[in-house]
Amino acid sequence: MIDLQKNKLLFLLLLCPWFLFSQVLDLYNQQCAGCHASDLKGTPAGSSLLESPLKYGDSHFALSKSIELGIKETPMIGWGELLKKDQIDSLADFILKKRAQKPQKIQEASPQIIMTKDYKIKIEIIIPDGMTHPWGIDFVNENMAYITGHKGELYRMTNGKLDHVPIKNLPEVFAYDMVGGMMDIILDPNHPKNGWIYLSYSYTPTGTKDPYAPGMTKIVRGKIKHNRWVEQQTLFEAADSILVKGGKRWGSRFLFDRKGYLYFSIGDMQQSVQSGNNPQLKHRAEGKVFRIYPDGSIPIDNPYGNDNTALKGIYAWGTRNVQGIAQHPKNDIIYFTDHGPRGGDEINLLQNGANYGWPIISYGVNYNKSIITPYTEKEGMEQPIRYYDPSIAICAAEFVIGDLFKKWENDLLVTALKYQEIRRLKVDGKNILEEEIILKGMGRVRDVKIGPDQAIWVLTNAPDQLLRITPIE
Ligand code: HEC
Repeated sequence: MIDLQKNKLLFLLLLCPWFLFSQVLDLYNQQCAGCHASDLKGTPAGSSLLESPLKYGDSHFALSKSIELGIKETPMIGWGELLKKDQIDSLADFILKKRAQKPQKIQEASPQIIMTKDYKIKIEIIIPDGMTHPWGIDFVNENMAYITGHKGELYRMTNGKLDHVPIKNLPEVFAYDMVGGMMDIILDPNHPKNGWIYLSYSYTPTGTKDPYAPGMTKIVRGKIKHNRWVEQQTLFEAADSILVKGGKRWGSRFLFDRKGYLYFSIGDMQQSVQSGNNPQLKHRAEGKVFRIYPDGSIPIDNPYGNDNTALKGIYAWGTRNVQGIAQHPKNDIIYFTDHGPRGGDEINLLQNGANYGWPIISYGVNYNKSIITPYTEKEGMEQPIRYYDPSIAICAAEFVIGDLFKKWENDLLVTALKYQEIRRLKVDGKNILEEEIILKGMGRVRDVKIGPDQAIWVLTNAPDQLLRITPIE
């Protein structure tokens, strides 16, 4: 039966959509109708597929997951091994079409429930509205987290709700349209004792709002006392001579590694290709990952730690727009994502003094498909451990820790903006042993963090929300 399907599928590529439809109808009638009935209304052996809402969510993604993985401890087996991915997709489309033809009760299933390989997960919307373009989140404790907002806000979640008491006296950010703005936030590893909070944001010394004013990503730390940002210290600020006019792609992500170094990224600010190879120049800030001590001083073993012609904070270079950095909980390897051009999103291992090659080498092309570079590799330049073509618009990165998601412990989560996903990768050094999409279609996933409660916390844009993911089985 399966072979017959294969041959038909080949044939099918040449034929019209009507045939596609009858193809999936055949498939459904052969494999599924026995239990779910040919009108999808169900039999004693299988539930109705028309009832609203479906137990495991009503999206294409949730449906195809239910079909692929089956429903544990029921006669609904996982079809992932018997059917091809496109067959499962077409079955999900088919069921959704049939459901759309039937008048539905409008009833958003909240919380959403989705099947993944190892867990049935529950997705709760913790902050449904009130934030504008949230970018980064970090937790003070179980009951409190800070969230940056692109326009320059610092939001606070207190006891599972958006706190409406504003935090004042924040640094002035240089934000226009979707360019620059307030970006990442991280708390000092000793925050309970010293109160330090680190922020990255785009800055112009001119103080104007003119998008063509010269600017750069700036790193500061400060404290919050009585709802005010106070005691600010500047940790990284570029000299006027190397500011960029009209830049895009400012970065930026933070990581504290377990030795206490602070890493941050600055994007290439579009100063590659057209304007030179700035990510390759050691006196320029664009397209770099920096490493400093928490007070802004420079580790002597930074690659240019002793070089007066270079920016001494540089740790690695030749990156485009690093928006995720995470350290493996067990072996200390640091992974980072690089938001690439079309077809060139990357996951890399971060190494002291390494050049990741942008824009000399890349797997991507320009958005209009014109060639950026004929080279995908070159001596002295690092290769990604994974690249995505098509690009998913890769963004944040975080490792799973704790017992709550025991089966995912030490797995790497990476997020996608355009594809609206969280992917879970089982990694072993350079090797990716497994990759699964565990969330899709709930917004552009800007940041992901494991909270003090060990749940997966997710910031999305469009819609601007804070989500919390926990396993329910
Ligand atoms: C042996 C019987 C059987 C067959 C064959 C079968 N299913 Fe199921 N299916 C079930 C049962 C029983 C459930 C309900 C499980 C539950 O209630 O937890 C189910 C549930 C589902 C669900 C989830 C419904 C919900 O509420 O979310 C989907 C989707 C589904 N089946 C699709 C399919 C498709 C597509 C096929 C064919 C490839 C198929 N099933 C074949 C028995 C079957």
